[in-house]
Amino acid sequence: MSENNQWGSRLGFILATVGSAVGLGNIWRFSYVAYENGGGAFLIPYLVALLTTGIPLLILEFGFGTKMRGSTVLAYKKLSSKWEWIGWWPVISVFILLTYYIVIVSWSLKYIFYAFNQAWGSNPEGFFYGTNLKLTSGIESLGGVNLTVLISVVALWAINYFIVYNGIEKGIEKASKIFMPLLAFLMLIITIRGITLPGAVAGINKFLNPDFSQLLNSKVWLAAYGQIFFTLSVCFGVMITYASYLPKDSDVVNNSFITALANCAFSFIVGIGVFGILGYMATHSGVPLEEVVTQSIGLAFIAFPKAINMLPAFNTLFGVLFFSALVIAGISSSISMVEAVVKPLNDKFGWSRKKAATVVAVLGVLGSLIFTTGAGLYFLDIIDYFNMQFGIVTIGILQCIAIGWIYKSTKLREFFNPVSNFQIGSWWDFTIKYLTPLVLGIMLILSFISEIK
Ligand code: PHE
Ligand code: NA
Repeated sequence: MSENNQWGSRLGFILATVGSAVGLGNIWRFSYVAYENGGGAFLIPYLVALLTTGIPLLILEFGFGTKMRGSTVLAYKKLSSKWEWIGWWPVISVFILLTYYIVIVSWSLKYIFYAFNQAWGSNPEGFFYGTNLKLTSGIESLGGVNLTVLISVVALWAINYFIVYNGIEKGIEKASKIFMPLLAFLMLIITIRGITLPGAVAGINKFLNPDFSQLLNSKVWLAAYGQIFFTLSVCFGVMITYASYLPKDSDVVNNSFITALANCAFSFIVGIGVFGILGYMATHSGVPLEEVVTQSIGLAFIAFPKAINMLPAFNTLFGVLFFSALVIAGISSSISMVEAVVKPLNDKFGWSRKKAATVVAVLGVLGSLIFTTGAGLYFLDIIDYFNMQFGIVTIGILQCIAIGWIYKSTKLREFFNPVSNFQIGSWWDFTIKYLTPLVLGIMLILSFISEIK
């Protein structure tokens, strides 16, 4: 039997979707990607990607989920049993993402404890790779599971299991109502600390000052689109599943704008805080700003510990708060991924929530194992690259074709417009049928070319 589950309130739904959207992606990925792609200039492609692809796809997923009332698998099956397979793609992709996303959250969890005595000492980089990850060079180190990472991964899976097992209203909604206000509060503290440090302005300038020459660089555009997918949790089946627990007369359009704007505002505010801190580090240590940031993973686990070492006061408190924020942001996102895998198993095989969640958690721990070995980072890089550059983009194209052309976007629009606060025009059909698939097609080709080169 497919179970019956509902959100307790609209606010609960919004907090859960914002919880899914705001995650590790907003706190370190956004800052780093923006930084690498011309600082302020990145904000322009980012906004274009948000408006031309992100929000239209979010409307599509909220609309389709509300209408079809099921996971991606059931939703596409209702479209036609011929198309059920499309619904399995995001489930597989999001499960793969989940297995390593949780591992990154597990590092954050460990770092809360490290922050108490700044265990990373004067060499956060060596500490991250050596002590934290026990990283060795390649595949040959597959056997050596890192025990502390493993314990922390199992603990996180247990938390995820517990929340999802309790269902939509009593599990996910309740957790989001605790997590989200707490996260907003933590991020506010971190941002205020960031912008009030001496030298912060130099960093913030780097973030906000456009480098327009970068706009002609296709890499910057690819990065912007990739970031929008990741940050809005679209094309992962998550938003379709979450929306399926809404009443049929829910305001799809407004829900989409609220979720998207809240998420992007969050990224922007955090970005200012993070760049403020980087600016302070550059000024304080005399290291040029360009060299303060190393690589994406390094921003949270290497540059931040360095920053924490340099803070004039409250180093421990700040470190604990920062890594707690990462953990909370991470869990509120990972529960949405777990739900997007659990619900299809219930829809397809009639498994109870308990059974489905148990199977997913056990498989999840096994899947995460590979990333807890000395070769974890090596696999994480490769798998993330293929999952994001090819998997997710392909799902985006398939969704646009299935709903734009087969289901007909006009029909979906006619479903949600009447119950929405403000109406969406035919620009949306144009976007879903032509613009988004075209842009995504170009992305796919560019990724292939860079792969061959
Ligand atoms: N949006 C989340 C983040 O920014 C990641 C995520 C991706 C969550 C896909 C759910 C589905 O960290
Ligand atoms: Na989150």
